[in-house]
Amino acid sequence: MPDQKLSSLTLSGPPVSRWWGPFPELRRDTLGFFLRCQTYGDVVKLPMGLVIALLLRKRDAATYVLNHPADIKHVLVTNQDNYQKGMVPPVESRIFGLGVLHTERDLHHRQRRLFLPFFHGNHVTAYTDLITSQARDMVGGWEDGTTVDIEREMAHLTLSIIWRLLFGQEIGSESTIVREAIAVGQGLIKTQYDSLLASITPLWVPTKVHRTFNRGLHAMEAMIHRRIEERRTASERHDDLLGLLLAARDTDGGPLTHTEIRDQLVTFLLAGHETTANALTWTWLLLSQFRSVRARLTREIHEVLGDRLPTTADVPRLRYTKMVWEESIRLYPPAWSLHTRVGRAEDHLPSGAVLPPGAWVFICPWSVHRNARWFSDPNRFDPERFSEEAKRTHTPYSYIPFGAGGRRCLGESFAELEGLLILATVTSRFRLRLVDGQTILPDPVMTLRPKVPVKMIVQRLDAHESEPAVV
Ligand code: HEM
Repeated sequence: MPDQKLSSLTLSGPPVSRWWGPFPELRRDTLGFFLRCQTYGDVVKLPMGLVIALLLRKRDAATYVLNHPADIKHVLVTNQDNYQKGMVPPVESRIFGLGVLHTERDLHHRQRRLFLPFFHGNHVTAYTDLITSQARDMVGGWEDGTTVDIEREMAHLTLSIIWRLLFGQEIGSESTIVREAIAVGQGLIKTQYDSLLASITPLWVPTKVHRTFNRGLHAMEAMIHRRIEERRTASERHDDLLGLLLAARDTDGGPLTHTEIRDQLVTFLLAGHETTANALTWTWLLLSQFRSVRARLTREIHEVLGDRLPTTADVPRLRYTKMVWEESIRLYPPAWSLHTRVGRAEDHLPSGAVLPPGAWVFICPWSVHRNARWFSDPNRFDPERFSEEAKRTHTPYSYIPFGAGGRRCLGESFAELEGLLILATVTSRFRLRLVDGQTILPDPVMTLRPKVPVKMIVQRLDAHESEPAVV
């Protein structure tokens, strides 16, 4: 640890525009920009430019990017009470409302306390059969040798699973409405992050994209409202998330309002399927490029499962499958950045930097995971990094795909279970080969998704055929 304090005035960072701060560079190459920030020290200061400074009436408005895991632990865990989430674009608040992803302090604590038992490891394993049966149904519809858009397949699969978790029912044809609403919402969120004008234009201004967004959101909300109303009049109790919300009581002992329930359902619907779908998409892509990894994965799955579907008891034995999953979300963390945190009081970080009150703090799993100080040869796909032995050598808080502290992902156990079961179910039946000639680059929107559809050819494995050994 350093023996010297670094005041915010002495911290530096890459050159940024005097008027627009880092935004032009961020718009041009967001992911590359954060990787370049690694070379400017443990804490990188990015002045926000004169325009934001004027709008905020704050001369030294700056964002601080944290590159050191000890500082990350400090902000997310040790001194987390000093931080709250920063402002999000209006479209994001409109979508998520006061769902657990965006609330603060007492309300957030209460909400988390409600959800924690539901997403606890033991409760989550009850969903094993649901996940494997949905995955089996998906591959049941695949024909040998055909080409699929794998991101689309994964998104439909994880949406059908989360829908069952929320409402205890099949999503059916309504899946398309939800996926379309999400696509438009994602596009709008990106525009609002990229453009100051877009981010201050209220959603009621009838631009074409606002109209499309509002139409999609209303359609999705109507579906959710219908489910809530149906359930209110049903006599039996359900043990899905809607059942939990309807049975919950607020501080006065009264039931949650319609809007409160809607906000939580939308939050889980979105947080709980895009992320996992993207993680799986990148994993299939990586597996198609690294044949020796795929061969070893296939062998493990055949040894553990033979011809049957995975059960809860199989999960701890899918050790290599878990290593593949963990390495894949190191390289392509679906939550490529955490929500910006804003400090209340001045804060002294373990690396020596001193952040002023009101500092905006940015933590980017994408760049922390690809920093050679914490992971050697960081751009290489190597599941061995996640063997039990290798994990013991990791620098604490250098691997944060699910965040950390009091805002750590509530769905982590569920996401991991889902990821492993889907990998196992699909790999035991199919091999996925990338269609030649595609260049797949990551696009950092709300989640880290591929910039273009990922076309893959699905090849059915004969029950007795195993993956050829690759040296
Ligand atoms: C691979 C899949 C997933 C990844 C990588 C992921 C990642 C994350 C991260 C990094 C955060 C913290 C954000 C921050 O601190 O700014 C978060 C929060 C959250 N995640 Fe996930 N997530 C995944 C899947 C899920 C699933 C399946 C669910 C629900 C079923 C879920 C529900 C949530 C919720 C509700 C929060 C807000 C927690 C809070 O603020 O208290 N996530 N997730």
